[in-house]
Amino acid sequence: MKKSLIAFSVSFALLNMPSIAQAMGDVEAGQSKSASCTNCHGEEGNSMMPLFPKLAAQNAGYLVKQMQAFKDGSRSGPMMASMVASLSDEDMQDIAAYYQAQAVTSNSLPPLDLDDDDDDEDSELTAEQKEAAKTAAQEQQDALLTTGYDVYRNGDLENEISACIACHGPYGEGNKPASFPALKGQHADYLIKTLTDFKSSVRTKNSDNMMHMIAKKMDSEEIKAISYYISMMK
Ligand code: HEC
Ligand code: HEC
Repeated sequence: MKKSLIAFSVSFALLNMPSIAQAMGDVEAGQSKSASCTNCHGEEGNSMMPLFPKLAAQNAGYLVKQMQAFKDGSRSGPMMASMVASLSDEDMQDIAAYYQAQAVTSNSLPPLDLDDDDDDEDSELTAEQKEAAKTAAQEQQDALLTTGYDVYRNGDLENEISACIACHGPYGEGNKPASFPALKGQHADYLIKTLTDFKSSVRTKNSDNMMHMIAKKMDSEEIKAISYYISMMK
């Protein structure tokens, strides 16, 4: 029973080889087909909005998988479902080839969180107090980035979180043959949102999803730290 199943999967995989080899989309066709995506995902896939993911330099195989997932409903995306509903497999491959060929822009860190929103109180702070608050906020941000760096490279043994580097690469470039996504230069706010969605199974209902298994062990501080760190990777 098991043997024949394996034989079946192997021959199925072989049968599928030619279609994988042909799966390279047409960059030029992809550019015109992606015109309607620009509103949210920006020129050349570099979105300016922190909750709209950048698509530039993303691995094509991963992009196609996500478009298919929005289309078949296995990834929820209220804004995306209607955008991909009428795309054919060929359209998706062309669009993915176009975005993969673009360069991703780099980010700057969000402004320091100085807790000085209240103008009245603010004016009562002395210059020294302001300076001290700034130093404290800077130290907090540095600590966050250090934690992010550490989890990315080494994982978190205590909480059994695998090192991200194993699948997303030393430079956050992902893994093309395996269709693991590139992460470098992605917006921190989107990363926080999507990791939280993996954790709570909003992004995928598949409980075997690798990222669900990983994200469910991360608390919100760790998610924030890793997201800030990744957003600054170049
Ligand atoms: C109205 C805004 C909007 C438009 C237009 C739009 N998208 Fe999106 N797209 C989003 C949002 C928001 C997300 C993130 C969804 C989430 O949070 O899971 C997203 C996510 C994606 C992702 C997943 C990226 C990742 O890193 O996982 C792909 C791929 C994508 N969009 C492709 C497209 C394509 C192709 C088009 C044009 C045909 C398009 N989008 C048009 C808003 C938009
Ligand atoms: C065993 C391999 C593996 C490891 C280890 C791993 N990932 Fe992933 N990651 C994936 C795969 C596969 C996907 C695509 C999941 C999907 O399509 O639903 C993904 C997707 C993601 C995404 C979504 C990207 C996007 O554009 O929407 C983020 C963010 C992410 N991973 C962050 C991390 C972080 C942070 C770590 C380390 C704490 C990590 N990953 C460890 C395999 C891995």
